[in-house]
Amino acid sequence: MTPALRGEKLTRTFSSPAGDVHACIDIDIEVAAGELVVVRGASGAGKTTLLNLLGGLDRPTSGTVWLGDVEATSLDEDALAALRRERLGFVFQSFGLIPILSAAENVELPLRIAKTPPAERDQRVAEALRLVGLDGHAAQRPGELSGGQQQRVGIARAIAARPHVLIADEPTGQLDSRTAATVMDLIGDLVHSQGLAAVVSTHDPLLVERADRVIELHDGRLTSIDGRPVPRVVAGADDPR
Ligand SMILES: Nc1ncnc2c1ncn2[C@@H]1O[C@H](COP(=O)(O)OP(=O)(O)OP(=O)(O)O)[C@@H](O)[C@H]1O
Ligand SMILES: [Mg+2]
Repeated sequence: MTPALRGEKLTRTFSSPAGDVHACIDIDIEVAAGELVVVRGASGAGKTTLLNLLGGLDRPTSGTVWLGDVEATSLDEDALAALRRERLGFVFQSFGLIPILSAAENVELPLRIAKTPPAERDQRVAEALRLVGLDGHAAQRPGELSGGQQQRVGIARAIAARPHVLIADEPTGQLDSRTAATVMDLIGDLVHSQGLAAVVSTHDPLLVERADRVIELHDGRLTSIDGRPVPRVVAGADDPR
């Protein structure tokens, strides 16, 4: 079966006054529907860069991203934005909620942008809030919710349009460890029950337990999968993989 998300030989090089920064080098990754892949690595290892490439928020210097059978990297900006709206949900470390909107209005916003009809919007907002266990909090604004509840609103917003793929960059980075574990459990449950393909980055070793697969980045390279080292491809040598 075609994986929901696939990155092939993803390389992203940033130019800086001090020289080129190789944030991602030759990374191959596949995520199936219903699979939670956790990306680990020290600060600066390339996690955010990789997630931005996979989510179509940034373009690789070389390599290809596929969303299902669509080659995202070959699309122009408008088509890529449409694909993101249709197939991807994003969860951010800082929640990214709009303070003057209620929980329900925050969840509804991407559906408005996608021009989902009002009746269907209401239904999807209610469903998303229920899935994250916040049905009783629809009218509250972010400032009236706890950090964990705010992130659950962020997750509800990400899944409201029923994306195929969920991308979350350190979604628990601003939460205490117990709340972080609950949010990660929620992400794991949603991935498995809704058949989402999810890529989640984290520093937190405890959260790795929820993963179906853990990939480790080091200085822009994928160094291990589920603790097994990935052999490095040496230019000119036969591919050992
Ligand atoms: N826009 C940019 N311009 C130049 N260099 C960048 C840019 N974005 C990232 N980098 C560099 O790429 C490398 C990887 O950064 P990235 O943000 O992907 O790391 P990370 O693993 O997400 O780190 P953290 O855990 O701190 O969030 C770093 O050396 C960073 O300085
Ligand atoms: Mg980062």
